[in-house]
Amino acid sequence: MLFSRLPVLLLTAVLLPSLVEAGLFFKSSPVKMLDAKSFKKALRENQTSVVAFVAPWCGHCRNLAPEYEKTAKSFNGLVPLYAIDCDAQANKQFCGQQGVQGFPTVKLFPRGNQAPPVDYRGERTSKALFSWAMGQIPHGIKRLKAQSEITKWVEQSSDKPHAILLNTSTKIPLLWKVIANKYNHRMKFGNLHDEGGSYFEGLGLEDSSKSDNKVLFFAPGSTEPVLYEGTLKQKELSEFIVSVIKGKADLTPRKKGVESDSRETEQVFETLEDDPVLHEEL
Ligand SMILES: *[C@@H]1O[C@H](CO)[C@@H](O)[C@H](O)[C@H]1NC(C)=O
Ligand SMILES: *[C@@H]1O[C@H](CO)[C@@H](O)[C@H](O)[C@H]1NC(C)=O
Repeated sequence: MLFSRLPVLLLTAVLLPSLVEAGLFFKSSPVKMLDAKSFKKALRENQTSVVAFVAPWCGHCRNLAPEYEKTAKSFNGLVPLYAIDCDAQANKQFCGQQGVQGFPTVKLFPRGNQAPPVDYRGERTSKALFSWAMGQIPHGIKRLKAQSEITKWVEQSSDKPHAILLNTSTKIPLLWKVIANKYNHRMKFGNLHDEGGSYFEGLGLEDSSKSDNKVLFFAPGSTEPVLYEGTLKQKELSEFIVSVIKGKADLTPRKKGVESDSRETEQVFETLEDDPVLHEEL
């Protein structure tokens, strides 16, 4: 008994101090460590980010660490969580500039460096931190309650493209908030509570995805919705939004049935007329 326990005890004694010295978060942690330089770079993206200013020797920081990691996991990258070791010589001055006076200090940057940070003063639990951060995303999404509101809303800023998320739930999904926050200086975002999907049905748009969430785009000045057919994930949706903003996306309204058929027929006619061989034979 004694012999088998001994190596374990020894190992623990050797490993523990090195764990503490290595900082509060491992390389594999969903919480990324930043320094003064990488902080600047991270904040250049206009997204809501949370930063914990910590010191490895601080007990409250060590208690916070697992809760903070849980919050990061819940956000799954949509709201990144960072930590800065203010005890490191290279970061000391920077932490001072950020107004850090005690550890841990948790700050939320609502929109990269485009808006002043907000201090977290709540409970140091993942649940409290998560719901607080969730409520701090300045998404500016217009809540539309009826189909009749859409046209008015689209016409109010006809110089910009518009995007609406249709959902049978009244809650706006995190992904939509995060995307709106990042791009709302170039595009207007809305959320339509489409109970029972009746509004979508009325549009007569073809939807093969069978997804509960649907995204509609409107070209600047247009009140004709175009269904987004890509994946409802951050990367794919962002890429499409960027192409809409640049005016490179195809936003021609496509209705199901008759119209799409006639379009194909038109194309066939064009090819036939343009075919020199065919003309010669005629
Ligand atoms: C961030 O927002 C500002 C102004 O709102 C804009 O000029 C800048 O291009 C945006 N940066 C990114 C990376 O989207
Ligand atoms: C509405 O949005 C939520 C959150 O994204 C999603 O889980 C749900 O499937 C959507 N549709 C319905 C019918 O609630």
